[in-house]
Amino acid sequence: MTIDEKLVQGLIAQILDTKKYRHLNLNTATVEDLIRREAQQQISQKALLKAVKRKLHNIVAPYLGEPDYVALTEELLQIEVFSIDSRPLRAFCLKVLSQHASTTERIPFLTDFYTQLFQATGKPQTILDLACGLHPLAFPWMGLTTSVRYHAYDIIQPRVDFINTFFTKIGLAPLAEHRDILMNPPEQAADLGLFLKEAHRFEKRQPGCNRNFWQALQVKKLAVSLPGTNLSGTHSLLEGHRKLVYSNLPEQVPVQEILIENEAIFLIQKSQEVNHA
Ligand SMILES: C[S@@+](CC[C@H](N)C(=O)[O-])C[C@H]1O[C@@H](n2cnc3c(N)ncnc32)[C@H](O)[C@@H]1O
Repeated sequence: MTIDEKLVQGLIAQILDTKKYRHLNLNTATVEDLIRREAQQQISQKALLKAVKRKLHNIVAPYLGEPDYVALTEELLQIEVFSIDSRPLRAFCLKVLSQHASTTERIPFLTDFYTQLFQATGKPQTILDLACGLHPLAFPWMGLTTSVRYHAYDIIQPRVDFINTFFTKIGLAPLAEHRDILMNPPEQAADLGLFLKEAHRFEKRQPGCNRNFWQALQVKKLAVSLPGTNLSGTHSLLEGHRKLVYSNLPEQVPVQEILIENEAIFLIQKSQEVNHA
């Protein structure tokens, strides 16, 4: 169906203002992109709205639950932090990490996860955490110093604000950004890009989109991870995910595969010449 600018803006406002999404202050670019793409497939406004809502549900994954960021921020601000190894800080981080499926799964082997990852990549000085979710709260287990430039991106504004408060609290620069990384890939140069447990959702949002997205990133190495099994752990997803990764890469690109517990990491070697300016 054809849509004019007025209809697009009206639909964006309508979707962002639904009870389900109002409190998340979602990135407008995400909703606009879904509307414009789905309009090419749908024949009525009603069908368009339904299709956009379905896609958005898959992207935001509201069924995974949303923490109470106001309460968490208050709690965080009460904690005295003398170092990132401080016990109360770590206990707080674990509580937050346990509130999202992707980060909960890593809790039993957090230290091992980053030891193995950084053994393969080298310790980065600049990181892009792409579609970060609550993952930056694992920083105390990464074995990195707070001189690291940790750029994190998510489409949920209260999550981004909370992460920046956390960064400031532990002495990192507040570099979390409210950005749709598919619509506006970061131009920031970095040693390492982390694109953890999200590539399969990107593929559902827009089949084949990972190829251009990965190509656009100014990182020396890109770690794309995918779950090794489904959420209930009943069947392996590895072969399908392998196909996803390799079908989005030119043939000659070197890839190293690492399996850490249930997470398959594809370490993609990108350009050596990254300008950190
Ligand atoms: C499944 S969680 C993954 C979290 C994290 N990467 C991890 O592995 O712990 C996906 C996160 O990506 C965010 N997200 C989804 N699409 C995005 C996009 N296009 N740009 C930025 N963030 C996005 C969601 O809001 C959510 O917080």
